[in-house]
Amino acid sequence: MRVHYLWLLLILGHVASARYSSANDWTVDHPQTLFAWEGACIRIPCKYKTPLPKARLDNILLFQNYEFDKATKKFTGTVLYNATKTEKDPESELYLSKQGRVTFLGNRIDNCTLKIHPIRANDSGNLGLRMTAGTERWMEPIHLNVSEKPFQPYIQMPSEIRESQSVTLTCGLNFSCFGYDILLKWFLEDSEITSITSSVTSITSSVTSSIKNVYTESKLTFQPKWTDHGKSVKCQVQHSSKVLSERTVRLDVKYTPKLEIKVNPTEVEKNNSVTMTCRVNSSNPKLRTVAVSWFKDGRPLEDQELEQEQQMSKLILHSVTKDMRGKYRCQASNDIGPGESEEVELTVHCEFP
Ligand SMILES: *[C@@H]1O[C@H](CO)[C@@H](O)[C@H](O)[C@H]1NC(C)=O
Ligand SMILES: *[C@@H]1O[C@H](CO)[C@@H](O)[C@H](O)[C@H]1NC(C)=O
Ligand SMILES: *[C@@H]1O[C@H](CO)[C@@H](O)[C@H](O)[C@H]1NC(C)=O
Ligand SMILES: *[C@@H]1O[C@H](CO)[C@@H](O)[C@H](O)[C@H]1NC(C)=O
Ligand SMILES: *[C@@H]1O[C@H](CO)[C@@H](O)[C@H](O)[C@H]1NC(C)=O
Ligand SMILES: *[C@@H]1O[C@H](CO)[C@@H](O)[C@H](O)[C@H]1NC(C)=O
Ligand SMILES: *[C@@H]1O[C@H](CO)[C@@H](O)[C@H](O)[C@H]1NC(C)=O
Repeated sequence: MRVHYLWLLLILGHVASARYSSANDWTVDHPQTLFAWEGACIRIPCKYKTPLPKARLDNILLFQNYEFDKATKKFTGTVLYNATKTEKDPESELYLSKQGRVTFLGNRIDNCTLKIHPIRANDSGNLGLRMTAGTERWMEPIHLNVSEKPFQPYIQMPSEIRESQSVTLTCGLNFSCFGYDILLKWFLEDSEITSITSSVTSITSSVTSSIKNVYTESKLTFQPKWTDHGKSVKCQVQHSSKVLSERTVRLDVKYTPKLEIKVNPTEVEKNNSVTMTCRVNSSNPKLRTVAVSWFKDGRPLEDQELEQEQQMSKLILHSVTKDMRGKYRCQASNDIGPGESEEVELTVHCEFP
């Protein structure tokens, strides 16, 4: 058993050294580009694997505007961070150490998370993360995009919003850094939307900081009313109660036709005439053709004299009979569905009851 075990170790060791001997076999994962603005900070989630599974980092350097000097075969540039393992205390130097604006939050095994606070607009460009473990070396570029002014958040919304149907809007920006908190706030026509605003189901904020991407988001879920159509929704980025940036979108709320019925008069003597009008007050999308139908006591009225106009339908009852008393309403449909008016009661008086 013991002999077999040793053989296995030897074979594994051989395979490992064959596979890991090339300097190309470091893997370093972090977001491709990190975004921030002048005065904020940047936290770079970062993970690495050295070519030798048991290797420990001996040195870590963070360069700015680096170049490779072919003559000396060394990287040169502004050194923002330089930590070397010491004999005295081999671990501590590479754990949680701060030099100037840079803090290394990782470790010597697999974590190269870094933070730069504050960050400057002129830090934009490539950082170079130089790592050394024994004879293995690696240079990893990390791209920073630091603007002069805080950038605008994005707002995502579904392609169609309908009245009374729950909808979720997402506001976010590719930024998150512990130590520089940002808050995303929502406004409807300049008044703040909070979780206690009627029609609001929830507002949830989240921070994502992974080796794939870094962002802060707020999701607003609510049920818009048809009267919210055309109103503005704003998402504001705040830091220490100060507004950094914002973005505004307009709500396009689709709704069924809103109809207004008028009956004149509502009380009438037998044989007199009554005129009813049905007006399309509002509709989104607009009605393609005005096809208003009329109902009496819930049943469709047929063979009536109708005058249909652009946004209006007129129903004239020339000589009313007792049978014509009842409740009237009108209806019209757009692509969203049918909209109904209120019901209006018609009373017919008889001379000789
Ligand atoms: C990093 O620091 C070590 C001493 O701790 C020094 O020998 C080395 O030259 C420094 N590297 C750079 C690139 O400044
Ligand atoms: C790396 O270290 C940071 C800071 O301690 C920690 O927040 C993060 O979760 C670590 N990442 C991984 C992949 O372990
Ligand atoms: C970058 O800007 C800061 C001030 O924002 C300044 O102190 C520093 O010298 C600048 N660095 C370079 C390399 O221009
Ligand atoms: C930084 O990001 C913004 C927004 O994505 C982009 O418009 C700009 O060109 C970028 N700047 C640099 C220097 O990469
Ligand atoms: C934010 O990051 C995502 C993924 O990392 C990217 O697809 C998107 O273009 C970025 N947005 C901006 C405005 O830079
Ligand atoms: C129709 O619009 C008028 C004025 O624009 C308004 O007074 C009325 O309440 C509306 N009626 C309905 C049913 O929406
Ligand atoms: C109502 O009209 C009918 C015919 O249209 C007529 O026969 C009847 O006399 C009229 N009644 C009254 C009260 O005018």
